[in-house]
Amino acid sequence: MSERTRIVVTRPIAHEAIRLLRQAGEVAEPGREAVLEPAELRAAVAGADAIVSTLQDRIDGPLADAAGPGLAVVATVAVGYDNVDVPALAERGVTVTNTPGVLTDATADLAFGLLLALTRRIGEGERLLRARTPWRFDLGFMLGSGLRDRTLGIVGLGQIGQAVARRARAFGMEIAYTGRRRADPAVEAELGARYLPLADLLRSADVVSLHCPLTEATRHLIDAAALRAMRPGAFLINTTRGPVVDERALAQALADGEIAGAGLDVFENEPDVEPRLLGMDNVVLTPHLGSATVETRTAMAVLAARNVLAVLGGDPPLSPVRA
Ligand code: DGY
Repeated sequence: MSERTRIVVTRPIAHEAIRLLRQAGEVAEPGREAVLEPAELRAAVAGADAIVSTLQDRIDGPLADAAGPGLAVVATVAVGYDNVDVPALAERGVTVTNTPGVLTDATADLAFGLLLALTRRIGEGERLLRARTPWRFDLGFMLGSGLRDRTLGIVGLGQIGQAVARRARAFGMEIAYTGRRRADPAVEAELGARYLPLADLLRSADVVSLHCPLTEATRHLIDAAALRAMRPGAFLINTTRGPVVDERALAQALADGEIAGAGLDVFENEPDVEPRLLGMDNVVLTPHLGSATVETRTAMAVLAARNVLAVLGGDPPLSPVRA
């Protein structure tokens, strides 16, 4: 590491991480809230040895070329890396790292929060009060659905999916899951989780919660046909990436009563939201807040910084993304 090492941070991140990065070289921060346009980003990374980026930045071969031959590492402050062309960077000898683990609890908490808000009609009740709509306690008023003995169908039983399953178990739910491969038998046993093919999971789950990464295989995994396959009383929760769900098909399925409701933290074309969803009472919406706690965002930035320090120092990164 030399004094002239240049580290470009594309978005404001925790000071703790900036302090760490300064141990490795000069840190260039955009110092603004707005996402850099592609041309601005290319200009900003020129001469970078390391880039610390977020999920809003498209990181691909041309961007690495704009940085130049010194670029050694791209550390994305996120667990998901669908915005990074990992093979193109690997071809150029650039290491890519992400931030798994540190955001597991925060994201699982939010998924479960959406589930509770949806099934107990918390958002709807709050809107009713804020609109000063007349109401009174009544034994039949705004009844929701309980969770005990209901089946939670998890799509993608990775770290976050498992953390959601643990929360669901505490609420008395049964766990089914699907994914590219079976989980470790010890994990299945701990969670009491049974593996089902996607079609069976959609048919049998009372709640489907999405925790798979966005890839070409999972883009629109939940499309019109998948929504039709779900139970009419079922709820859909999405805290992974918006394009895993065909948002227009979801709006239609909700309008047609094919499923009972949806809790969404992520959207196909963020920050836009399919307008029909905004008007539906059986939909709970949050603006991509899965990892948004002070502690988690700090831990994510610090992990990204440690990855940069490791690579620039000639050590293996703590959390590399495999090409
Ligand atoms: C991630 O890490 O991939 C989240 O979407 C943002 O924290």
